[in-house]
Parts: sequence; structure tokens; C-alpha cells
Amino acid sequence: MNILLVGSGGREDAIARKINEKDTLYSVLLNENPSIMRMSHKYIMYERDSDEKIVEFAQKNNIDIAFIGPDDILNTDLNDTLLKNHIPTASPSRNAARIETSKEYMRYIMNKYNIDGNIPNYIFTDADEAGNFIKNSSKEYAIKPIGLTGGKGVMVMGIQLKDKNEAIEYAISIINKDGKVLLEEKQIGEEFSLQAFTDGKTVVHAPIAQDYKRLYENDLGPNTGGMGSITDRDFSLPFIRPDQKENAMRILNDIVNALREEGNPFSGVIYGQFMADKNSLKVIEINSRFADPEGINVLTLLKTNIVDIFLDIYSKTLKNNIKFNSMATALKYIVPSGYGIDPVETELLIENNIESDNLKLYYAAVSGTMNRVRTSHSRSLALIGIAKSIYEASDIVEQNIHKISGNYYIRHDIGSREMVGSKIKNL
Ligand code: AMP
Ligand code: GLY
Repeated sequence: MNILLVGSGGREDAIARKINEKDTLYSVLLNENPSIMRMSHKYIMYERDSDEKIVEFAQKNNIDIAFIGPDDILNTDLNDTLLKNHIPTASPSRNAARIETSKEYMRYIMNKYNIDGNIPNYIFTDADEAGNFIKNSSKEYAIKPIGLTGGKGVMVMGIQLKDKNEAIEYAISIINKDGKVLLEEKQIGEEFSLQAFTDGKTVVHAPIAQDYKRLYENDLGPNTGGMGSITDRDFSLPFIRPDQKENAMRILNDIVNALREEGNPFSGVIYGQFMADKNSLKVIEINSRFADPEGINVLTLLKTNIVDIFLDIYSKTLKNNIKFNSMATALKYIVPSGYGIDPVETELLIENNIESDNLKLYYAAVSGTMNRVRTSHSRSLALIGIAKSIYEASDIVEQNIHKISGNYYIRHDIGSREMVGSKIKNL
């Protein structure tokens, strides 16, 4: 079959490799990703507001089904335009993707359908009202723009925002820019991501993952798009209780059902980011795609043919028979020096024999060749170890990092014995 993939980050490299196992890949790239280019039978570069070129490319190449990776493209009309032109897709409509692209819509759905895990939240359009609310409240808040920010727009009081003045200033800056700000009560606990395939009705869950968003080791510093992520052999995590995972599965199902009832049925990949503490499980956000990096962990483990899943999503015949390898993974992103603050574009050299059965290397926002890449300001290369335990998977990455040279930064602590051990102790 001829499969069209839109996107060219590390997540899309992982999707492309699954497609490439049996079918023919055609791609629409945002950067000249050497790994995806090498696998693609043909490719074109993405241009905003020229969806007709993508439709033409799909029609000319008899595309059987298309899949869109990145959130900012799901926030355009591309998926709806492909469908209108009789090109099947396994991605959500623009309206259904609002569960991610509008945090206001997400809270509205949770509220209206009384879905578990909602957090008290407030929207302000008036700067003085937002300021007074924060000033007079005894609680702390996560302060969020309504729309997409690439994982970098949320600031939390007591973490990125030192005091109430900084919080008020940040809330007002968002109102000035977007006309609106969302305040959510601050939650404390362990975060995890649950991704799932859905055809709008049946939901098939992937192993749960933990993403490390903070720039520096020991979870310090500003939020990033995600510096790395882990999954465990039993598809849960050693510091998340089985009832918490089951709760999260139920909540995700409830959201899929609510979207269907709302007249915006969701097809594609949906994922919830949850925060668990001793007594409760809260929804931090819902996204309309594979996570990056956590999507790479689950795609590396996926045993079922991904194109069969795409076809079942499109024809609304998804079955609960999707299989994952029962292994642990630890992924660490190599990013250009200064990433997230003042990144420096650079060149990275990669040894030939780096990949093996238990180590994969995915190419993200880079161009060049398989052995020599030019970075951008974004994440460059994802190294993922596969082993019986998270720490062994992390060790495999550490043992192979020396095969990549250049001016880069990586969080070594992700998946280490110390990190996972201290989380288990906290539980
Ligand atoms: P988001 O972009 O919504 O995933 O938020 C980025 C990060 O901000 C999350 O991974 C959390 O660590 C943090 N965050 C978001 N919402 C809250 C909240 N209500 N309470 C505490 N932390 C939050
Ligand atoms: N890993 C965070 C995200 O994909 O949004």
C-alpha cells in the first residue's frame, strides 16, 4: 500500500519505520530528515496554506491512507481537506483535535460530561480580574495559554514562577497576546502519559510512559518539548499503581465517548497526560496525536502492523488485538547546546554501527546525511535503549552515546537506577 506521512520529527521517523516494514512510504517533510528521506519512495516539503499541493501529491501517487504527526498541522484543515478529496486518513478532524488545540474546549468537555480527573480551572479575559484573582487566592496555579505552544507555554507557580508578582505578570502577558488566559489549580504528583489508538468508539491503549519535560537533570529548569521518556516491561510504571493506570484508561475512554456524543468523533491517536498522587488522578492535558518522545517508546515496541491499525481506524473497525513487545525502554534526546534557552545550531557526527537489536536512533529536527547532521534549534536525535528493565535500557543508551560527537546536550539521568529508585521510594 502507499502510505502518506506528514511530519518529520523523531516521532515521525518512528512512525515511518513502522510503515516502511511492509508498505511504501510517501512523506511530507518540515525539515530534510535524512532517515525519513531515505525510506520515502517520494517526498515533498510542507508549505503552510498549500494543502492542495499535498492533495495533488497524494492523488498522483495513489495514496491508500494518510497519517498526520504534528499538533500544529492537526490544527489546520489538512485532514479534512484530504478526506474531502477521498483520501482516507487515520487522523482526527480539526474539530476533534480541539481536545488538544484548545485547552478551553478540553476543560469544557470534561466539565459537561462530568469526566473524572478534572481540575478547578478559570478563564480570564480581563487583566485586572486575573491579577486580583491570583493576588487574593490562597492557592497556586498553572498558568496556560489556551492554544498550542510546543510544550513551552505553561508556567507553574512555585516552579517556573517564583512569586505572585511573576505569576500575575505572566497571566497578563498571555491576555495581552491572546486575549485570554487559563488558570488551573496546581497539582503535585507523578506524571505519566497514556496513549491510545481509537476509531472514535473502540480505544486500544498503549503502554504508559513517563516524559521528562524539564531541561535539566533532576527535573529542574524550564519546560521543553520533552528531553526523554521511559516505559516498563509490564506496560505500567514501577511508581504508578495499577488502579491509577486503570483510572487513566477509563478517563481516556470517557473522553473519546464524549467527543463522539458532542458530534466531533475522534479518530487517530489520542493521549492523556495525567498526574497521580496518593489519593487522586488528575488530567493535565489531552493531546490529539502520538506524544514526542513517548510515542517513540511505544512505536519501538509496537508489534502489530501500523498500516493495518490505520486502516481499521479509518473504517471504524479497530479491534482490541494490538500487541506490544514486553520490554522496557529508555529514550534520551540529544539536543543542540543551549536548547530551550539560547540554542546553537551545530553539526553532529554519527558512527555507522550505532543501531543494534537493543538500541535505536531516530532522527528529529535535523538535515544532512545519516552520518553527519546539521541541527536546528529543536531536538536533534533520539537514542532509545530496549531491555528487560528501565535502568538497563538507560545503560544501553549511555554505553553508546560516545558514538555521536558534537556540541550537544543530553539528560543522562533519564531512566537511571537512581532516578527510578527514588520515585519508587516516594511511592
Ligand atoms: P502542558 O503543556 O499542559 O502539558 O504542561 C506542561 C507541564 O506543566 C506539565 O507536564 C506539568 O508538569 C505542568 N503542569 C501543567 N498543568 C499543571 C497543573 N495544573 N498543576 C501542576 N503542574 C502542571
Ligand atoms: N511529550 C510531550 C508532548 O508530546 O506534548
